Amino acid sequence: MTTNHAFDPLAATYDAAFTDTIIGRYLRDQVQARLAQHFNAGDHVLELGCGTGEDALWLAQRGVRVIATDASPRMLAVAQAKCAAQPTVRVEPLDLQQLSSDSNPNFSLSTSPFDGVYSSFGPLNCLTEWRELAEWLAQRVKPGGIIGLGVMSPFCLWEPLWHGLHGTLRIATRRWRRSTRFQPDDNATPITVTYPTLRRLNRDFAPHFRPVYVRPLGLFLPPSDVFGVIEKRPRLLRLLLSLEQRFGHVRQLALLADHYWVEYQKT
Ligand SMILES: C[S@@+](CC[C@H](N)C(=O)[O-])C[C@H]1O[C@@H](n2cnc3c(N)ncnc32)[C@H](O)[C@@H]1O
Repeated sequence: MTTNHAFDPLAATYDAAFTDTIIGRYLRDQVQARLAQHFNAGDHVLELGCGTGEDALWLAQRGVRVIATDASPRMLAVAQAKCAAQPTVRVEPLDLQQLSSDSNPNFSLSTSPFDGVYSSFGPLNCLTEWRELAEWLAQRVKPGGIIGLGVMSPFCLWEPLWHGLHGTLRIATRRWRRSTRFQPDDNATPITVTYPTLRRLNRDFAPHFRPVYVRPLGLFLPPSDVFGVIEKRPRLLRLLLSLEQRFGHVRQLALLADHYWVEYQKT
């Protein structure tokens, strides 16, 4: 019987496998540097697909008030435990695929509009279109507010190179098919993962938001399934980190990275 959310089986090991790795930490530092540019102590922000709550905790420690949401009950449980000592974080269920339905009963539509919204490392890839989300956010974000989104890109250079060389062609080409099925174990309900181009996202957000910033995330650094191999080779890791530092801000390279980070401003 499949009853669990697709990400439930990953919740217990997510921090060890991603958050607490050297490469994961470097990439998250880049995201948090962007969050710090926009969100200040006292601001009220919404996180979509918070996972284990790492960014919510970080912002809360800086005095930002965060509503951290996710669709996976087990991810929410880890986030809740991690942020328990932070009175300025509220952890709530919110399924991005059910924005207009009653299955998000606990999500307080909030007393005041949000100063900003963010979503790190791929939650938006769990949607197949983004217009409904853009409409929903337009009603909840203040004019001038920033939305920062970390999205898995459709043309990640690493994936076809690495998996092509290792003969795993199905993974090597999965992003070119634009969408793949994700089901980490048999008890989890499968979901469709989609890899939108920047143009597609811009189009879906266009009625209410204008793009103001984009950068690659994980251009020379690999996707997370290869972290372990690279982190065992310190010289190679140092080289890739320095290349990432050097080229990681070149916006023209954003779509060649594992993720891109895009920011929209509410008009
Ligand atoms: C790769 S994790 C990223 C977690 C976190 N943002 C981070 O920075 O580590 C993707 C997250 O998106 C969540 N997610 C997937 N589909 C979702 C949906 N329909 N609505 C809300 N969250 C969803 C998953 O449960 C998971 O926690």
